[in-house]
Amino acid sequence: MTRPSRVLSVIVCGAGPAADAGKLIKLAQQRGWTVQVIATPAALAFIDITALEAHAGSAVRSAYRSPGEPRSMKADAVIVAPATYNTISKLALGISDTYALGILAEAVSLPIPVVMLPFVNTALAARHPFRRAVGQLRDEGVRVLLGPGEFEPHPPGTGGQQLDTFPWQLALDEAERLTHNELREADPTAAPQPRRTAELPVLDQGGTAARHRVRRSPHRALASAGPPGAPAPSQLDRCR
Ligand SMILES: Cc1cc2nc3c(=O)[nH]c(=O)nc-3n(C[C@H](O)[C@H](O)[C@H](O)COP(=O)(O)O)c2cc1C
Repeated sequence: MTRPSRVLSVIVCGAGPAADAGKLIKLAQQRGWTVQVIATPAALAFIDITALEAHAGSAVRSAYRSPGEPRSMKADAVIVAPATYNTISKLALGISDTYALGILAEAVSLPIPVVMLPFVNTALAARHPFRRAVGQLRDEGVRVLLGPGEFEPHPPGTGGQQLDTFPWQLALDEAERLTHNELREADPTAAPQPRRTAELPVLDQGGTAARHRVRRSPHRALASAGPPGAPAPSQLDRCR
């Protein structure tokens, strides 16, 4: 079977915007991506599985496959949207108790972009564990779109009014930019991909505005170079 040129894994968590995940699928497909959808168990209550499967043309996965079932496609980029307080916090701690977290636990170490677009209110976003989690994930090279000009937390109880403005496109733009930059590292002759803005202000761990650089984590460098005796990234079972 011929592998599609670019595969995007969209991980959907259990928050209001999940009901509109079809918007991201459509947008990505218009830009030439093949999309596969992974839902957390909590997200299943928010999404129309049949509609998403029809959009994506493949099954929505929320659990590990049974032995003998076909594997998912290897992803060239991963977007988590909406990313919940729960999944962001657990990913930073290394917890892998859902299929979605299992995919993410591995993807963070691989040389593919992982972009998280949170949907949290100000009460959740203010928690120290959450702020720590965002900082830790950024240190590992995850692009967390949180802060001015990106996703900005809303007052508790107002989430329902924010659904129409959830910035799906931002996540896709960023995944595309980072994917292009990964390719550039492999092929320096490829044209550079400009940032959406010159610099993106985001909240640092202390909640103050800071300038964000996309960091390349030591783990990613390790995955690219390949530790002694380890399989090359292309041999890894990247998205089971
Ligand atoms: C109606 C409803 C709305 C919710 N909205 C949010 C939300 O906006 N952000 C969030 O982080 N969690 C929200 N939650 C809570 C999550 O669904 C819950 O923490 C769940 O455990 C998340 O699991 P997941 O991260 O595996 O998807 C909401 C729950 C319900 C029932």
